[in-house]
Amino acid sequence: MFAKPVTEIYPNPPKGLDPRLLDEGRVPQHVAVIMDGNGRWAKKRALNRLRGHKAGIEAVRETIRAASDSGVRYLTIYSFSTENWKRPDDEVEGLMQLFAKTMLAEVDGLHEEHVRVKTIGNMSKLPAETREAFEEAWEKTKGNDGMTLLVAVNYGSREEILHAVQAVVEQSVDQFQKTDNLPEITGDLFEDGLYTAGSPDPELLIRTSGEMRVSNFLLWQLAYTEFYCTNVLWPDFNRYEFLKALLAYQGRNRRFGAVQA
Ligand code: IPE
Ligand code: IPE
Ligand code: MG
Repeated sequence: MFAKPVTEIYPNPPKGLDPRLLDEGRVPQHVAVIMDGNGRWAKKRALNRLRGHKAGIEAVRETIRAASDSGVRYLTIYSFSTENWKRPDDEVEGLMQLFAKTMLAEVDGLHEEHVRVKTIGNMSKLPAETREAFEEAWEKTKGNDGMTLLVAVNYGSREEILHAVQAVVEQSVDQFQKTDNLPEITGDLFEDGLYTAGSPDPELLIRTSGEMRVSNFLLWQLAYTEFYCTNVLWPDFNRYEFLKALLAYQGRNRRFGAVQA
């Protein structure tokens, strides 16, 4: 459901983009975003890469607001991958500080919007101040019934899958010891061990900056997700770019392997 008239969610759209075309009944429940291109945005302006990451915060803010107002129930944002530790120390440290600072600054506003903040990824490897900022945001917003914001930090899908396999094995051993039987390994049992347990699979994945790869993001969950790639660099992304992605999604024909009716 739209939180307000769609022309108020997307006021003054650029020429040729009509928010009234958005079908309220077919807004995806879960949108995942690979926010890419901060470094290139900064480079174009002869700025340090961290300035690009800082500029990306406004795009995150706008996207959260547009998603929540448009009736999206889950928004997952890829903020730091398990591979991003390969970056120079000053960039990694700067990002970790930026996550902590931004989370602390934004949590009250998110809470007022009834957003529930969660993280997916291996939080144990993060610096304490960053981990604590996310934990506090989760603690403060866990009772909210608005959109769930899943922040993927130190997230890697292969690691997540191994984590789930480990959980399934432990459960199986436990059951075997008690009953002499192994449980049947179902999709539901496996998904209980994923960081995204309890969230539906994304219907739409957005990737900015022109790259067309998944970069170790949600490999299991993206099985039937629609991909939307745009050349826009993440700091230039805004509510109208988000609207374009939603409209593109609504124009897709999802068959799930079946024959079109
Ligand atoms: C995405 O922007 C943000 C993170 C991965 C943290 P990049 O930093 O990857 O930007 P490019 O790809 O170098 O332009
Ligand atoms: C993916 O972007 C990770 C995040 C957006 C956090 P990268 O910039 O790290 O991915 P590659 O290196 O282009 O695949
Ligand atoms: Mg990148």
